[in-house]
Amino acid sequence: MTTFTRDDHRGTGPGEFTPDGCSVQMYARLPDNGETEIIAGAVPSGAAVLELGAGAGRMTRPLLARGFHVTAVDESPAMLEQIEGTGAVTVRSTIEDLDLDARFDVVTLTSFLVNTADEALRARLLRTCLRHVAADGCVVIQREPDGRNEKLKPGVAWSREGMTISIVSIEPVGEGVSRTCIGYAFEDAQWTQTFYSHNLSTSRFEAALSDAGLTVDAYLTDDRSWVRARPADDGRGPATP
Ligand SMILES: C[S@@+](CC[C@H](N)C(=O)[O-])C[C@H]1O[C@@H](n2cnc3c(N)ncnc32)[C@H](O)[C@@H]1O
Repeated sequence: MTTFTRDDHRGTGPGEFTPDGCSVQMYARLPDNGETEIIAGAVPSGAAVLELGAGAGRMTRPLLARGFHVTAVDESPAMLEQIEGTGAVTVRSTIEDLDLDARFDVVTLTSFLVNTADEALRARLLRTCLRHVAADGCVVIQREPDGRNEKLKPGVAWSREGMTISIVSIEPVGEGVSRTCIGYAFEDAQWTQTFYSHNLSTSRFEAALSDAGLTVDAYLTDDRSWVRARPADDGRGPATP
């Protein structure tokens, strides 16, 4: 099967872009869409949270406002600049290479990063979660719901808070893998983001977790797109790297 890496992702529109095609300006404008309510409802209050792929701090700010202590990780310095001064600790790193000498009550891997079409990267992202979660802590993951590729059609659009998000195109490019182009239209500016994702079945998702030494503790939403996982067994996962 062809592997599509995040280097294949693209973005168009004004301003700077991350290596995975996200517009910094656009993500700085996007509002919290209920994500932090789901996270807050699933973890202990006041917990130390390691937020992987924090972007411009869309979830960081509401998490801080709810009393969490947040360490925000992103590979993009331009994204992290948007978070500076909020009270979060910022760490510039790729997620897969992150090796902080610390364990957190909660590790979050949201924004469908687990659906990367790069299987080796997925394993490394999940390993980073395990490496940084406390033995009695949890990992909160946002994944594409089963059957997402059949539901999303070009032209599907939704509006909120002065912006319209639309599916510009979605095409299958391999087994379970699709290339999606999303449009973001504001009154004064427009962006697109094109990315590859692997719509993992629940069983395949759970197998990837298990390979990384994690196990599903609870599905947090009816569509199973939000998941709370915990370290399997002794919290160190399988002995092999
Ligand atoms: C789609 S944006 C989402 C940002 C934020 N979670 C949100 O919901 O607004 C993905 C972010 O993750 C970062 N990212 C993606 N893959 C990464 C990786 N492997 N290592 C570090 N950062 C990564 C990108 O730079 C970008 O800021």
